[in-house]
Amino acid sequence: MRPLILGLSALAGFSSAIDVQVASSGGNATSGKQYGIMFEDINHSGDGGIYAELIRNRAFQGNSIRPSTIQPWTAIGSAQLSLKNLSQPLSPALPTSLNVAASSGTVGIVNPGFWGIEVKVQKYTGSFWVKGSYDGSFTISLQSTITNETLGSLEVRSNSTDSEWREHTFTLTPEKAAASDIIANNTFAITYDASATSGSLDFNLISLFPPTYNNRPNGMRSDLMENLKGLNPSFLRFPGGNNLEGNDPPYYLKWNETIGPLKDRPGFPGTWGYQNTNGLGLIEYLHWCDDLNMEPVLAVWAGFYLEGPVIPENALQPYIDDALNELEFLMGDTSTTYGALRASLGYPEPWTIKYVEIGNEDNLGGGGTSYQSYRFQKFYDAIRAKYPDMVVFASTVDYQFAETSDAGEDYHEYTRPDVFAGRFGFFDTFATGYKTIIGEYAVVQPNIPQGGGVDWSGPRWRFPMWIGTVAEAVFLVGAERNADKIFGAAYAPLFQNLNSYQWAPDLISYSADTAANVLSTSYHMIQLFSEYRITETLPVENAEFDPAFYVVGRNNETGSYIVKAAVYNSTELVPMSVTFEGVTEGAQGTLTVLTAEDALSYSNVGKEAVTTTTTSVIAGSGGVFEFELPDLSISVLEVKA
Ligand SMILES: *[C@@H]1O[C@H](CO)[C@@H](O)[C@H](O)[C@H]1NC(C)=O
Ligand SMILES: *[C@@H]1O[C@H](CO)[C@@H](O)[C@H](O)[C@H]1NC(C)=O
Ligand SMILES: *[C@@H]1O[C@H](CO)[C@@H](O)[C@H](O)[C@H]1NC(C)=O
Ligand SMILES: *[C@@H]1O[C@H](CO)[C@@H](O)[C@H](O)[C@H]1NC(C)=O
Ligand SMILES: *[C@@H]1O[C@H](CO)[C@@H](O)[C@H](O)[C@H]1NC(C)=O
Ligand SMILES: *[C@@H]1O[C@H](CO)[C@@H](O)[C@H](O)[C@H]1NC(C)=O
Ligand SMILES: *[C@@H]1O[C@H](CO)[C@@H](O)[C@H](O)[C@H]1NC(C)=O
Ligand SMILES: *[C@@H]1O[C@H](CO)[C@@H](O)[C@H](O)[C@H]1NC(C)=O
Ligand SMILES: *[C@@H]1O[C@H](CO)[C@@H](O)[C@H](O)[C@H]1NC(C)=O
Repeated sequence: MRPLILGLSALAGFSSAIDVQVASSGGNATSGKQYGIMFEDINHSGDGGIYAELIRNRAFQGNSIRPSTIQPWTAIGSAQLSLKNLSQPLSPALPTSLNVAASSGTVGIVNPGFWGIEVKVQKYTGSFWVKGSYDGSFTISLQSTITNETLGSLEVRSNSTDSEWREHTFTLTPEKAAASDIIANNTFAITYDASATSGSLDFNLISLFPPTYNNRPNGMRSDLMENLKGLNPSFLRFPGGNNLEGNDPPYYLKWNETIGPLKDRPGFPGTWGYQNTNGLGLIEYLHWCDDLNMEPVLAVWAGFYLEGPVIPENALQPYIDDALNELEFLMGDTSTTYGALRASLGYPEPWTIKYVEIGNEDNLGGGGTSYQSYRFQKFYDAIRAKYPDMVVFASTVDYQFAETSDAGEDYHEYTRPDVFAGRFGFFDTFATGYKTIIGEYAVVQPNIPQGGGVDWSGPRWRFPMWIGTVAEAVFLVGAERNADKIFGAAYAPLFQNLNSYQWAPDLISYSADTAANVLSTSYHMIQLFSEYRITETLPVENAEFDPAFYVVGRNNETGSYIVKAAVYNSTELVPMSVTFEGVTEGAQGTLTVLTAEDALSYSNVGKEAVTTTTTSVIAGSGGVFEFELPDLSISVLEVKA
C-alpha cells in the first residue's frame, strides 16, 4: 500500500503543491447524465446474463447461419432426442422442437443451464410446452451434479394431447439449497413415464426463472441489477453495439421480433458467436430503464450489416419507416397503429424517448461513406420531422455532424493507459450543447514502450487493471471539465460471463453463482465519480495539471463543492492545496481516495483489488484544504458549503 498522508500543515507554502483556487461562479452546467451504462448481448451477457432465464437453448432457435441444436440438452433413460420441424409447430417463430422418443421406463431431458443453475430455497417459476398424448405426470427437478441429490422436485399433471401444443406451468420451491461452494453445480430435468405415451413427445419453450428484480415476469437477475444500481447510472445505451448491426443479411436485431409472448420471438444469430433468444426484448429494456431510473438512449438499425452490405440510398426508406414505427410503438398513444400494438401487449402507457442513436460505429467496416453521404442524414431528417425535440446521435464523431447541425455524436475509445491519460484535453475543441456521448470506452491493454493504441490482434486484459482504471479516470475528469459538451459516458462492455466470454475486459464479471460477481477496479472508479455529481463546473485560477488531473464543481442539490481527481504517473506524493471562494478556516471536507496494491492489480472472484479510504479534512488558515494524493489514486473531495 502506498501511504496516504492527510492535512499536513507543513505543506503550506510547499512550492510544488498543486494550488487549486476555485471561483464560486462562472462555470458550465452539465447535462445531468454524466455517468451511464451501455449494454448489448455480448457472449451471454444478455441471455444467461442479466436476463434471468436459467435454461440454455430453451426453444431450439436457429437459422441458416446458426442451425438449431439439441445442445446442451441430454437424455435421461432410454430416450432418443432429435429435432423436428413439425407440420404443426408451436408457433411460426419457433418452428423447431425437441422430440423425445421412448416407449417404456422413466425417461426425460436434462439441462445444465448457462454453465450452472443456482439452487436456493426460493420460488422458481417455470413452463414448458408439450405435444403428444401422455396420461400421467411430469416430474420437474433440480439436482446436484456433485452430490446427485434432488434439491427440489414437483409433479406436474399432464394436459398433453396429440392434437395441439399445450403449455404446462409450475412453481417450484426447493426444500434445500445447494451448499455454497457448489451452489450452481445443478441441472434441471423433466422426466415422465414413457409407457403412458404413444412412443414420443415433442417439447418446446422450456423455461425456468428464479425470482427476478422487482419481481418482473421475464425479468432480470436481481444481483446484477443491484450491482448496476450501485453505479447510480443516469442513462442506458442499448441494444448495442455490434449486436444491433448483425453480421449478414437478413439478420440484425429487429425490434419487432423482440416483443410479445416468448413463443412469438424467433431470436437471431447475434454477432458474438451464438443465437440470441430475444427474451430480453425492447419492453424489457424499457423496464430496465424504469427500474433503475435511467434515461433510454435507443439505438436503431441504420441500414448496415457488420460484414456488409450497405442498404443503397434508394432502398433505405423501409428501414427509416421501421425506426419511426419503433418510436411510435414506444411513444405513440393507443390511437396510433404501433401504440395500439403496445397496448395490446399489456402496456397502454407510453414511454418517453428523448435520445436516439443511428446505428453503431458506422465509420468502421465499410459503412463510413454511405453513413456520411446519406444514411445518417436520412434517418436524422425523418426522426426530427416527426419528433423535433429528439436528440439524434450519430454513431461516430468522424464526420463533424455535431459541428454542422443540431445532431449529436457518439465517441468510442478502446486503448492503452497512456493514451487515455493523454486525452485529458481531448474534448476541449468539441461542440458545446451536450452533443457528445461517450458511448463506449475502456483501457484494454497495457502500456508499451513505443506508445500507441491497441493491437487488436494481441491479447487484451482479462479484467480491468488499476493503471487502466486511473487512466480512464483522467479521461473522464477531462470530459467532465468540458461539462457543456458531454452528454455522458459509459464503460463498455458491461458484463462478462466468466464461463463463456469473447470480449475482455468488462466492467462486471459473473457466473451462475450470484454470490461470486466481480466488481472490477473500473466499477469502483465509476461508482465513486457517479456518487458525487457535479451539476456545474467551476473555474480554477491558473489551473495546473499533471500529474494530478482534476475537475471542480458544485452540486446544486446538496450545495457541496466537489473536486474529482486522478493522479497518473507521479514519482512522488502530490501535495494538493485547495481553496473555495467563500469557504473559511474550520470548514470540513470529506476526502475519499481509491488506491490499489500496484498498477496491475485487478479484482477477481473472491479478490477485491481496490482500497477505499475516507478521511475528514479541515480547512486551515485562509480556508485552505491541504492533503497529499499518492500516485495512481482516484479521489473525490466534498466540501459542504
Ligand atoms: C465553460 O465552457 C467554456 C466553453 O466551452 C470553456 O471555455 C470554459 O473553460 C468552461 N468553464 C469551466 C469552468 O469549465
Ligand atoms: C441542477 O443542475 C442540473 C444540471 O445542470 C439541472 O438539470 C437542474 O435543473 C439543476 N437544478 C436546480 C434546482 O437548479
Ligand atoms: C427445420 O427448418 C429449417 C429451416 O428450413 C432447416 O434449416 C432445418 O434443417 C430444419 N430442421 C429439421 C430438424 O428438419
Ligand atoms: C461447478 O460449476 C462451475 C461452473 O460451471 C465449474 O467451473 C466448476 O468446475 C464446477 N465444480 C465442480 C466441483 O464440478
Ligand atoms: C452421482 O451419479 C454418478 C452417475 O450415476 C455416479 O458416477 C457418482 O458416483 C454419483 N456421485 C455421488 C456423490 O453419489
Ligand atoms: C389444458 O390445456 C388447455 C389448452 O391449452 C387449457 O385450456 C386448460 O386450461 C389446460 N388444463 C390444465 C389443467 O392445465
Ligand atoms: C420485423 O420488421 C422487419 C423489417 O421491417 C421485417 O423484415 C420482418 O418481417 C418483421 N418481422 C415480423 C415478425 O413481422
Ligand atoms: C461465445 O460463446 C460461445 C459459447 O456459448 C462460444 O462458442 C463462442 O465461440 C463465443 N463467441 C466468440 C465470438 O468467441
Ligand atoms: C511518465 O513520467 C515519466 C517521467 O516523468 C515521463 O518520461 C513519461 O513521459 C510520463 N508518461 C506519461 C504518459 O505521462
